Amino acid sequence: MNNLKYKTIQYLDRNESQYGPTPKCFEYLKTVGIEELAWYSRDFSRGVKSKLSERIAKDFGFKENQIIISYGSEDILKQLIHRYLARGEKVLIPKEAWWYYKKVAYEVGGFNVEYPMKKGKIGKIDSYLYDLDKLIKIYDREKPRIVIIASPNNPTGNMISKEELGKFLDVCRGAIVMIDEAYWGFGSKDNSYVKPYIDEFPNLIICRTFSKYFALAGTRMGFSFAGNNLEELKGYTTRYLGYNLVSENLSLIAYDDNKYYEKVTGMMQEDKEYFYKEFNKMKGFTPYKSFANFMLVDMPAGIRKDLDKFLKERNLLIKFLDEEAFKTETRITLGTREQNYYLIDSIKEFLKKAKH
Ligand SMILES: Cc1ncc(COP(=O)(O)O)c(C=O)c1O
Repeated sequence: MNNLKYKTIQYLDRNESQYGPTPKCFEYLKTVGIEELAWYSRDFSRGVKSKLSERIAKDFGFKENQIIISYGSEDILKQLIHRYLARGEKVLIPKEAWWYYKKVAYEVGGFNVEYPMKKGKIGKIDSYLYDLDKLIKIYDREKPRIVIIASPNNPTGNMISKEELGKFLDVCRGAIVMIDEAYWGFGSKDNSYVKPYIDEFPNLIICRTFSKYFALAGTRMGFSFAGNNLEELKGYTTRYLGYNLVSENLSLIAYDDNKYYEKVTGMMQEDKEYFYKEFNKMKGFTPYKSFANFMLVDMPAGIRKDLDKFLKERNLLIKFLDEEAFKTETRITLGTREQNYYLIDSIKEFLKKAKH
């Protein structure tokens, strides 16, 4: 195609940020010196793992050793499973889940059992919802060693409320529960439950990342709040020579720049409203409520292949899901405003052409 708006592929398929991190991160990179590149961290001599864990612990009122640092949240998930799941034991995961949940138990000879979400509405918008009664029923029946709850969940975009979460944690005190909050910040910035739940439920771990809200996926930095029964995990995950010092400094810079991230998230929120409105006008399309940086959109099965081709010709890549739980859904990562509007315009153009 001539006159392409975008000369290179626009990746709206992997829940990465298209705005990028705060410009302060790029400024910092110009100043990086021998200390970050050639030397090990000296934070251990001060009795803490890192400046980052120290800072997060202070802000949330934890002891420093309750904060785990990891190579993104993928890494803490892997370490948790590898440390605690014995051969033949079960992990309870959402049926509608990020693909790695489905795989990780098998790395150590364990296996998955799944709990389904239900569908409903939030306001006027269609939404996936946690089905607490079903979750509890399946938990009681299966007695898994580990439970994973993603909030917001990928690819459905819904959250579990802190009240529902509290109820569930109360029921499943015998299991280790991981709350994956990789998409924290886009739909809610609530932190009020973190300290009380970690204090009350010693088998709980809440995992967050710098990859999504803070737009630092390439630096691979994640952190978790860990309950007091997870002592062995704290030891298992500790890296005594320190962590990636450049990543750590970038994370701290991002962590402190609320203004930039609130501005970006505000624009993404407006664009999500635009997506709901526009997709709801398209025949056979259903957009689902999203508390994340992506949106799940159901669309007529018959157009998927042609739409995919049409968008690729315009250098737009979105994710046409093809798995057991999702045969007709597409997951669209929110891009910049310009990308988002271009995507909607392109889909409209495709639908118009498809009619003739
Ligand atoms: C639900 C969920 N959890 C965790 C991750 C991993 O993120 P990271 O390892 O970059 O922190 C992803 C990545 O897309 C995800 O979708």
